[in-house]
Amino acid sequence: MSSPDSARPRRLRRTAPLRALVRETSLSPGQLIHPVFVAAGSRVNRPIGSMPGHAQISVDALAAEADALARAGLGTVLLFGIPEAKDASGSGAWDAAGPVPRAIAEFKRREPTLTVIADVCLCEYTDHGHCGVVDSRRGEVVNDETLPLLARAAVAYADAGADIVAPSAMMDGQVRAIRAALDGAGHSEVAILAYASKFASAFYGPFREAAGSAPAFGDRRAYQLDPANGREALREADLDVAEGADLLMVKPAGPYLDLVREVRNRHSLPLVAYQVSGEYAMLKAAAERGWLDERRAALESLIGIRRAGADLIITYYAREAARWLREPGD
Ligand code: PBG
Repeated sequence: MSSPDSARPRRLRRTAPLRALVRETSLSPGQLIHPVFVAAGSRVNRPIGSMPGHAQISVDALAAEADALARAGLGTVLLFGIPEAKDASGSGAWDAAGPVPRAIAEFKRREPTLTVIADVCLCEYTDHGHCGVVDSRRGEVVNDETLPLLARAAVAYADAGADIVAPSAMMDGQVRAIRAALDGAGHSEVAILAYASKFASAFYGPFREAAGSAPAFGDRRAYQLDPANGREALREADLDVAEGADLLMVKPAGPYLDLVREVRNRHSLPLVAYQVSGEYAMLKAAAERGWLDERRAALESLIGIRRAGADLIITYYAREAARWLREPGD
């Protein structure tokens, strides 16, 4: 052991090649997942105000999107749907002619090697904006009545060709219910990315504008995790592993890096972290004001998530980050 006064950690920081040689964590476009908001209708391209660079786009515009992603070196998309109409049970979620099943088929037609993940939740499809069925007498989102509806949506996306379905409703038993339904429908090959540890976060604000999914009454604290609860988040991950999850997620990413690390150490499944809409919007807003160097701040936020233990990152920066990563680095 060298004595503290002979320790010179700066030796390995002197030059860019030395820094590259000893860099511990990598970040590459293939580790990034690009979210897409698919709108009903045609020739729709509605920019999302609080998420600069993102828009609600209709299926006819996805061919160009698929080409751009392939050029950027991105291999994976996560799809959310914005349906024409909503109802109490969110039946648009399993409509085979809805925006998500059509988008899955279109992406697969245009770019067969693209991995397509479909988010499975009811909040974009319910008229009350909650992630499950509401018992209006009790004013509560009811768990077991919601499970078959989530399972139906997952099967519809698998039928359309999704590689992975990602249940995000935070209903107890959703992974088991979806696994059973997929297997029963002959989709034993379709994987489940469990939004295992999903917190009731203020950082979802811009997404709810993007997806038109803000709850009409109340909030999501009766089903999403309390931001104060780390042990409970680990329990959720354990349960989803036991129910048959193929990949795990922690969401949001930045304020929950302790859990990214703990889930990484505890489970061997691939781990995904979701840098959510509010994390993106904060960086964009500060950059627009000239308060941050956007490229450096965004890449730093992503390498930090990787260093904490995430294999993959869902991020609204995917396209820009892929471009930045191809430029000569520092
Ligand atoms: C659906 C869902 C949400 C997000 C992903 N899936 C919204 C929510 O739970 O309110 C948020 C993603 C983001 O903020 O980028 N339940």
